[in-house]
Amino acid sequence: MTQIFRRSADTWLRAGLLLLIAGLSGGLLVALTLDSTDYRTGRNWVVEQPLPFSHAHHAGELKIDCRYCHSAVQSSAMASLPPTETCMSCHSQVWTNADVLEPLRKSLRELEPLHWQRVAKLPDYVYFHHGVHVNAGVGCSECHGQVDRMQLMFKAQPLNMGQCLACHRDPAPHLRPLEQVTNMQWKPSEDRRRLGERLMTARHIDTRGLTDCGTCHR
Ligand code: HEC
Ligand code: HEC
Ligand code: HEC
Ligand code: HEC
Ligand code: HEC
Repeated sequence: MTQIFRRSADTWLRAGLLLLIAGLSGGLLVALTLDSTDYRTGRNWVVEQPLPFSHAHHAGELKIDCRYCHSAVQSSAMASLPPTETCMSCHSQVWTNADVLEPLRKSLRELEPLHWQRVAKLPDYVYFHHGVHVNAGVGCSECHGQVDRMQLMFKAQPLNMGQCLACHRDPAPHLRPLEQVTNMQWKPSEDRRRLGERLMTARHIDTRGLTDCGTCHR
């Protein structure tokens, strides 16, 4: 019988298959790694806003409480972003002619709200509720980081399923007294777990069900 393929073809075929398998598993590894990277979750990314609003200045130096601007955070699912009027309560008096504030004045003149770009955003198939967390004593910084130091807002935490579940399995070391939820400088005065366990009991927080798929995917 005549040989159609050269003897070496077999070796090439094996080598080719090996390369293919190595390539595929390598690709899978890259995909899995990328899945939890900052690139995928958008962590530490600054987005362009209609004007350069600084939390470091307003929440940090001027010490305006988060709830002055995010007024629904304790009562609703959404924290809410402030309307132009909230900014104008000060900026009709201070920095009235600053160029950077022109978009704010334009918004007031034309009764057109500013279109802030969202930084922390979950996919639509996930249910989240701010009020429940804030009233359980979970501080803003647990999920949003040191906002009082951010010149421009960025996502400091991945806010992915892994992060939600890690806390839902064991929330105690993440809890604090209710009057400290917006305090970015808060430090526990006693062992954090011991304090947390006590707060769990006092607030009747039950972790049963917190990791059920239907809690966040309804
Ligand atoms: C347990 C985690 C967690 C805590 C605690 C938390 N947030 Fe959030 N926050 C989120 C998530 C997740 C989103 C995105 C929600 C979405 O897209 O549905 C978000 C979105 C926001 C938004 C954007 C828009 C909106 O109306 O919801 C603001 C503003 C905000 N948070 C402010 C705050 C403030 C202020 C506090 C503290 C009083 C706080 N958050 C506490 C997780 C948290
Ligand atoms: C409680 C008062 C108050 C409120 C409310 C307020 N600001 Fe300011 N803002 C100030 C003061 C004071 C300055 C700084 C003046 C200075 O630097 O001496 C300032 C400065 C600024 C600047 C200049 C850049 C900087 O940060 O130094 C921008 C932009 C700005 N504010 C935007 C806003 C926007 C947008 C809102 C509403 C979401 C808002 N401010 C709400 C008091 C306020
Ligand atoms: C003077 C008003 C003001 C105060 C005070 C303020 N914020 Fe904001 N916040 C804004 C505005 C305006 C935006 C939208 C622009 C931006 O992302 O910077 C915003 C955006 C955010 C976002 C991003 C939400 C998203 O998904 O886009 C978070 C998180 C947030 N604020 C948390 C806080 C926390 C925590 C505090 C208190 C430490 C606080 N803010 C205090 C006005 C304020
Ligand atoms: C740092 C801790 C912490 C993180 C992070 C956290 N949670 Fe929670 N979550 C809690 C606690 C504590 C409760 C229970 C509150 C109670 O029972 O009073 C809760 C309750 C809930 C509930 C139940 C609300 C209800 O009405 O039944 C939902 C839904 C929820 N969380 C969604 C999320 C999602 C989605 C994420 C991630 C984006 C998340 N949580 C991240 C601590 C956390
Ligand atoms: C405490 C809240 C929470 C619970 C409980 C939860 N999830 Fe999620 N899940 C999330 C969040 C937030 C996201 C979106 C962010 C991300 O991609 O991680 C998500 C994303 C997903 C995705 C899409 C993943 C992707 O890469 O696009 C699937 C599938 C999923 N969840 C399945 C489940 C299943 C199955 C369960 C029950 C075993 C479950 N989840 C329980 C919060 C939760």
